[in-house]
Amino acid sequence: MSNKIDNKKIGPAFDHGEGDEALSNLSKNDHFGDVLERRISRRAALKGGLSAAMLGLFGSGLSGCNVFESSSSSSSTGSNPNLLGFRAIPVSELDTVVVPDGYKWQYLAPWGQSISNPDVVYDLPLTGAQQADAIGSHHDGTHFYPIEGQDPYEGSSTDGLLVVNHEYVEPRYMHASAIGQNLTRSQVPTYINNEGKVSRVADEVLTEMNGHGVSVVRVQRQLNGDWKVVADFRNRRITALTPMQISGPVRGTDFVKTKYSPDGTMTRGTINNCAHGVTPWNTYLAAEENWAGYFRNGSERPREQARYGVGTGAQSRYGWELADQDPNEAYSRFDVTPKAATAEQDYRNEPNCFGWIVEIDPFDPNSTPVKRTHLGRFAHEGVVFHTPNEGEPIVLYSGDDARNEYIYKFVSAQPYFKATAGGHLLDSGTLYVAKFNDDGTGEWLPLVYGVGPLVSQPINQGEERDCHCFQSQADVLMNTRLAADLVGATKMDRPEWGAVDPNTRQVYFTLTNNTSRTNEDTDKANPRGPNPHGHIIRWTENNNDPTATRFAWDIFLMAGDNSGGVTQGTDAAGNPMTDASMFSSPDGLWIDKESRVWIQTDQSESVMNTNPVYSMMGNNAMLAANPYNGEVRRFLTGPLGQEITGVITTPDQTSMFISIQHPGATISASDFGANNLAGKGNWPFGGNNYGRSASVVITKEDGGIIGS
Ligand code: FEO
Ligand code: CA
Ligand code: CA
Repeated sequence: MSNKIDNKKIGPAFDHGEGDEALSNLSKNDHFGDVLERRISRRAALKGGLSAAMLGLFGSGLSGCNVFESSSSSSSTGSNPNLLGFRAIPVSELDTVVVPDGYKWQYLAPWGQSISNPDVVYDLPLTGAQQADAIGSHHDGTHFYPIEGQDPYEGSSTDGLLVVNHEYVEPRYMHASAIGQNLTRSQVPTYINNEGKVSRVADEVLTEMNGHGVSVVRVQRQLNGDWKVVADFRNRRITALTPMQISGPVRGTDFVKTKYSPDGTMTRGTINNCAHGVTPWNTYLAAEENWAGYFRNGSERPREQARYGVGTGAQSRYGWELADQDPNEAYSRFDVTPKAATAEQDYRNEPNCFGWIVEIDPFDPNSTPVKRTHLGRFAHEGVVFHTPNEGEPIVLYSGDDARNEYIYKFVSAQPYFKATAGGHLLDSGTLYVAKFNDDGTGEWLPLVYGVGPLVSQPINQGEERDCHCFQSQADVLMNTRLAADLVGATKMDRPEWGAVDPNTRQVYFTLTNNTSRTNEDTDKANPRGPNPHGHIIRWTENNNDPTATRFAWDIFLMAGDNSGGVTQGTDAAGNPMTDASMFSSPDGLWIDKESRVWIQTDQSESVMNTNPVYSMMGNNAMLAANPYNGEVRRFLTGPLGQEITGVITTPDQTSMFISIQHPGATISASDFGANNLAGKGNWPFGGNNYGRSASVVITKEDGGIIGS
């Protein structure tokens, strides 16, 4: 019990780009961990020990629709104990994908594959123009749209559109100046020093910007069973340069007026697209997650930049603003220091055009993506919907993946009707933020201008007006995090993906980890302080009504190891994690038609297999949990250096699509220099090739349902 963890040793080494942004929530709101601590300490007092306390949590039946009926840690309380039909695979440090006996995998749509001529995979380095025609880098949110049909359980299972987010790029792999060279990340771009003025080669910047965004490609299953990307008029790249509409309450306001769009209705590009969402009307939602660092501001930041961590360094994360050419100020706009007399004459407001959810119609290659501002502005991990009922509002959830940030819910103002449903439903409604009470209940707190503290005058004398007041609903949405601070939302351990169980309507969210919790946050009874491995929370809305403003929550499982110490994990039945079930840092999440809970891990590559807190976990992996008996089994392990992202099956559940992001991210500068990558992170091409992000299709050799 005294096995204290040194916070400094478990944090990601690269906070910018590969993980969450710098800590920016300075409010005094409760941590979720504080709530957990109170619950655990109460139970510990009752049951006389940590283990008993944790077991009590898992089986406590707090949710209104909890599938566990007692506090027993038995694995046979549910009605479907045979949901997981595969044999768990062991942890892996191999540089390949491993699946259970009876399954096979192939890679699909790797970074650099041409979308106009899919027989071509461009060699590295890609020019900017090649990247505009090629699958992007760092695959994340992943969805399969049957080529016809809208029901998630109907439509083609052999022909569809694969849509993939590209979260970020790795300049070490991208540029001629870097390939085969012994360079660190900061040395990679080609800098030009012209009498003291430093700039970047514009085409390198263009490649990086085109490596971002979203790819849409048609994929078909061949007669031999393999999947293939094929040419199609719908194949499309959306990038950091694609023109986009701004809709919802922020559209046309002063916040988003720029030289590019003086009336505040348009912007260019989407960046750092992590997870995704699928609307009930079959469009795709790309979330903008760690966008703030892509900008730099050389002057004082307004609150809508400071609370999100917009950069203050000499250059932005990638230095796009330094490009030595600047058509239409497409590059220089990432330096948002005010330069002209008014906002309509410069790009001081450019960061305000990011941090949103972007709607894309993958079936219409000429459609303009739309930033839906009523869904709030934060480090959106992704979006997950309840399946709507005809005539009722639509309801969705989105997590803000940064340490100590919040979970949000949106309820549309207008009812859903299948015949008329569309993106307009996302433009009016109520955005809420979650407060988790320590008695197992929760509240959705409205972020509505004029309600509670979200008013135009200070409530308490002496409050700083600029920090605590709002002038409109657009102001509330632009400053979503600040509004959530003020209403008293619960600080969470980095909310990542959500999923809704189609059978119970329970909502699950991964909380990946939180390395910033201080001893004060976690002292005494808090068994997870700091929380290196994360956990999964779930809730049921009151009366199982998605629009309810109250809910009942419990912890589905605690991720962790099998050490027996404070980092021990516990499965959804309350049993200690074993070799077959242990994992760290849950991120991707999806619940299939039979309620299998698919869990994907994202240990930072800076700690995976090296830091002793994580090394027993092996490479990032995908597991499946059976919510009926609480069991967890490891289903897939990925290659070196990567994280597993995105999960969906074909409607018949016989092909599963996932993605592998940043394989080989652990290769070092000296590996580059030695020009010998074999066994060090060269998936999927092998040999002396750099790792490339790609999707993966998993099938069962007997043609059966994945996971069964
Ligand atoms: Fe991009 Fe929160 O993972
Ligand atoms: Ca993620
Ligand atoms: Ca993550």
